[in-house]
Amino acid sequence: MSTFNKKPEWRPTGGALIAEGVGFQLKVTEMGGSAPPPKRRKPKPLPDPGTRSDADCLDLARRQHAGEDLGLTQAFLDEWSGVTPATRKALAWAEVRERVDSLLADEDDAVAAMATIACELFSAFDAVHWAGFYRVIAPDLLAVGPYQGGHGCLRIPFSRGVCGAAARTAQTQLVHDVHSFPDHIACSSSTNSELVVPVIDPDGQVRAVLDLDSDLPAAFDAVDQRHAEAICAALGELIGQR
Ligand code: SME
Repeated sequence: MSTFNKKPEWRPTGGALIAEGVGFQLKVTEMGGSAPPPKRRKPKPLPDPGTRSDADCLDLARRQHAGEDLGLTQAFLDEWSGVTPATRKALAWAEVRERVDSLLADEDDAVAAMATIACELFSAFDAVHWAGFYRVIAPDLLAVGPYQGGHGCLRIPFSRGVCGAAARTAQTQLVHDVHSFPDHIACSSSTNSELVVPVIDPDGQVRAVLDLDSDLPAAFDAVDQRHAEAICAALGELIGQR
């Protein structure tokens, strides 16, 4: 767990409570108090990226964490502080994996697990515009399961589309351009790339597929595939226990 995730410790100080965590301190007035409105700190200008130091980067990270409105996009801040898209993706996956593992540690219901995973994946990645599951409900037939995003197709035969291919072959489908994929099903005309991972139970049966769709071309790569496959492997075990 990063130090930024460290839980604040609450301690009373006369008429107020102080919460202290790493790199921040927060004062909360007790109910009924008449504290003056909090002073807005004058924004400190960002040092020139060409002259930034490690201390500058740390200071910026702290200010972001403290909720200071720097009026800058995440992409700019990443670029400025030297965080590459690959690093940000790795951090996002690490957080998703940690949260999913913790949320599902004592869960044995497949729908609850799928809904939680869909929510986590949809929320974690800006590039993901649809995240969810199709379940095998009959031989060679998928039906939509828990998902987040726009409407999904309700039924998909194994013979059709990227989801069908993943279910039919029991192999992950990493598709950089869906328009060049034979028989792609356009549930949403804005989709350009997809990652579809089969969920396989301990008997080797495909029970569902995880479908991640993006409006961006080539939004997914081998890193996404590795993490999504790990989540689906754990889900396959969970489903197999029932
Ligand atoms: N992407 C899938 C169809 C499902 S949706 O896009 C939600 C496919 O081509 O198999």
